[in-house]
Amino acid sequence: MNGKTVIGPSFLKVTPPAVTRQMAGALDRLKQRGKQVNHLGAGYPSPRVASDYLEGQNHFLRYLKHVADTHKVPVEQIMRSMRGYADTTGITIKGRPIPRENFAKVYGGDFDTGIDTAHVIPTTGSTGAIDLLCTVFASPGEKIAYLSDNPTYAGFITRAQRDNNATIYSVPMDAEGPIAEDIRSQIRAARADGHHVAFYYTMADGHNPGGIAITQSRREEIYKVAQEEDIIIVEDGPYPYISFEDASSRPKPFFAQDPDKRVIHLFTASKIWEPGKRVAYMIVPTTLKAPDGREMGINELVTTTIASTNLMPDHESLLQFDAFLHTETGNGFALRSLWEEAEFRAGIYQQNRDVLLAGLDHYLGEYPEIFKWTKPGSGFFSVLTLLGGHHRTDGQFVSGLIEADEVTTIPMFGFYTGIETMPLRLRDTGHLLGYNELRLAFSYTEEDDDEGRLSAMQTATEKLGRAMRRLHGLPMK
Ligand SMILES: Cc1ncc(COP(=O)(O)O)c(C=O)c1O
Repeated sequence: MNGKTVIGPSFLKVTPPAVTRQMAGALDRLKQRGKQVNHLGAGYPSPRVASDYLEGQNHFLRYLKHVADTHKVPVEQIMRSMRGYADTTGITIKGRPIPRENFAKVYGGDFDTGIDTAHVIPTTGSTGAIDLLCTVFASPGEKIAYLSDNPTYAGFITRAQRDNNATIYSVPMDAEGPIAEDIRSQIRAARADGHHVAFYYTMADGHNPGGIAITQSRREEIYKVAQEEDIIIVEDGPYPYISFEDASSRPKPFFAQDPDKRVIHLFTASKIWEPGKRVAYMIVPTTLKAPDGREMGINELVTTTIASTNLMPDHESLLQFDAFLHTETGNGFALRSLWEEAEFRAGIYQQNRDVLLAGLDHYLGEYPEIFKWTKPGSGFFSVLTLLGGHHRTDGQFVSGLIEADEVTTIPMFGFYTGIETMPLRLRDTGHLLGYNELRLAFSYTEEDDDEGRLSAMQTATEKLGRAMRRLHGLPMK
């Protein structure tokens, strides 16, 4: 029996979950029906890169003993405190924020930049970081504008749209990345509309769902606009380590080429370690100045928000990730670079990507006037565009691919934002954006061994390639 129905407030609304979340639910329902699922939809990490649970736990326990010996505290005391209340920014040992300090050293070292531990705040995944930033900026009630690429991460759209006083102004992209001059004109349009521009949200590496890495020259142009218009860049960074580019030519993330300290970087352990523990760190060096001259570090604003929402992070998970940042040496533990780990992981994803790209080429390459796709230098995604104008890649289209061809993809329309705040020149055709595109993820197969994984990726690509040929009336291959 349902409970009592009580009169609600007039704003009552449910923000629908992002398309990618809807997909996660649909996958379980398909499996329940005993359907064979070939994955090009789920942007999950490959099970091939999952670490051995028991080995990880044993390493963690040995690490805790090492920390206890180093800091001369009983190991039981650390174990107790990691299950107890502690500081909003995470556990300390003898007053030192050991996990944050170590993360700052490793991540700063890996990207060749200094990170101040005071600017490092643990968050519940980068999803939690996005939520915190929106809470900090949108809650006071001033009209707020976010700038974001079009397309952009659906999780950001969903969160940003929850606040009635916040509007997303979108920035179109080309093959090199978001168009810098559009960032400028959109900042000015938002300001002319009476909004305070909170920040520009982007992903420099492994753009989700754009399926590209922003080129170095475009990063420089974007940063220059940010300087000239004096705005914050929020760089969501699940994929800087998942790069297929040669180390010598790989562009640095925004936060590592940020002389002004205007970049807020969202690191997550979800792709370089595991997503289930929800370990992530926000690097927040920037200060805000109110019109009356008061200054406040965004790190403080974020920390006080955490104190009233989550209260504190999961200290045990932070210490487990801290253990992951260490390697065992003959006589103890030492911090390690994550590039070796990254190479292993990126190697797996690069193989998957190569299978997908070769398959697309094989099945669709003869028809460049009908099909094109991005060739990502990092991340988990490629975007397939249907240029023929015969099909609308809506929910029904994607469900049809699942039913008839047993292959999952994600429709792109859910990654685009509203027409009203697009640059003027795009508004006539804005309603079409995404309706001729599919996001293809090459990260995930259910198989965790190399042979099974590559063969599953091949089968999924084959299913998609054949479906596209059939739907376009092309001879079967
Ligand atoms: C761009 C982007 N941001 C955020 C997330 C969510 O990451 P987390 O697991 O840290 O919440 C993802 C996950 O795929 C992502 O691609």
